[in-house]
Amino acid sequence: MTVNADSSFSIASSWRDLPAAQQPDYPDLEALRAVTSELEGYPPLVFAGEADQLRARLASVARGEAFLLQGGDCAEAFDQVSADQIRAKLKTLLQMSAVLTYAAAVPVVKVGRIAGQYSKPRSKPTETRDGVSLPSYRGDSVNGPEFTAEARIPDPERLRRMYHASAATLNLVRGFTTGGYADLRQVHAWNQDFVRTSASGQRYEALAREIDNALNFMKACGADPAEFHSVEFYASHEALLLDYEAALTRVDSRSGRLYDVSGHMVWIGERTRQLDGAHIAFAASISNPVGVKIGPTTTPEEALALIDRLDPEREAGRLTFITRMGADRIRDLLPPLVERVTASGAQVAWVCDPMHGNTFEAASGHKTRRFDDVLDEVKGFFEVHKGLGTHPGGIHVELTGDDVTECVGGGNEILVDDLHQRYETACDPRLNRSQSLDLAFLVAEMYRG
Ligand code: PEP
Ligand code: CO
Repeated sequence: MTVNADSSFSIASSWRDLPAAQQPDYPDLEALRAVTSELEGYPPLVFAGEADQLRARLASVARGEAFLLQGGDCAEAFDQVSADQIRAKLKTLLQMSAVLTYAAAVPVVKVGRIAGQYSKPRSKPTETRDGVSLPSYRGDSVNGPEFTAEARIPDPERLRRMYHASAATLNLVRGFTTGGYADLRQVHAWNQDFVRTSASGQRYEALAREIDNALNFMKACGADPAEFHSVEFYASHEALLLDYEAALTRVDSRSGRLYDVSGHMVWIGERTRQLDGAHIAFAASISNPVGVKIGPTTTPEEALALIDRLDPEREAGRLTFITRMGADRIRDLLPPLVERVTASGAQVAWVCDPMHGNTFEAASGHKTRRFDDVLDEVKGFFEVHKGLGTHPGGIHVELTGDDVTECVGGGNEILVDDLHQRYETACDPRLNRSQSLDLAFLVAEMYRG
């Protein structure tokens, strides 16, 4: 949407009169306003031009020429903003991307759930333990995870911490991805600490040797393109807290359009995608590429209405539908959506989130997911697109670079009885490094068909 600078405030705040689901109940609105007005003056975390570039990459995904790898924590946490953890996540994503690029021979668009993924929608507003009910933890940007009345009070100061944590993370991500670490010649280094301990690490090592040979061959031929020496990496998160996202929305001086400069891409979650709600109105007002989570209750009419609201120009790359149906339902629920959307002439990117439709509670009380269900949902996604002649555009996964025990199964099998060993997530269970690599190899096979 194009606006002149004077009207930017009213456009950016057009969502304010609409119902906004999942917002914190701040006890002190003055304090909230003080923080958001400071945030309005802070430097952008990303540039509009970068968001445009990602939109162009996602247009290739929508046209069937590239594959999106989007992944990271369910919820980032302030006490996990460390070089080790960020590097481990990046390594995992770079390794997955190397597997997909090489084994499936497709350009991979790399987008982290990172540098802003601090806010969580919750299915219940309160949490009850031993007869005591407190407001639910809504992510570090809102309140604290500790089960005390004090920690659970929404504190707007946390929005400022979210900005700084995002900035610190993004700074390191930019350093790693452009400063030599992501050079394809490092393809072995990303695996070093991992190769001896896991079967997927060893399988990766064999693939890295092949990549090395190919690089040496190209170098001997005199070809050493710049693309091999750094990586294009983008940041994304759920646009949940509209006060924060609006405070980071700016008019781009080149185009007069509004961009949410808190991340390159933002998505609207399954619980906040109401057509007449504030989140969709906010997403409609910005020019970033946007995603919408599409769960099992979505009707084709709703999907078409979302396209009308968010992509009225039918511009490939603008809108990504991230489907999360559940392994047992995707084969029935996805076809009518894809058919109707395709028939309408819209060019959305279709991406599979095989995590959020496959969560269950283990007997031990841990929230978990089976690796086989995750894999089966991706398989169903590929089958549906193959059947309809449309493009399976990518995967959206919750993962970490650490060897956690949060999801069961995988090549280095995690058993239900292992879950307690290293269960560290701030919210949903994530694939660990080995499970993530296993998934990349299997997806590459599906892609090649
Ligand atoms: C998430 O991505 O962490 C999430 C809450 O997903 P959804 O909106 O699809 O439930
Ligand atoms: Co999640």
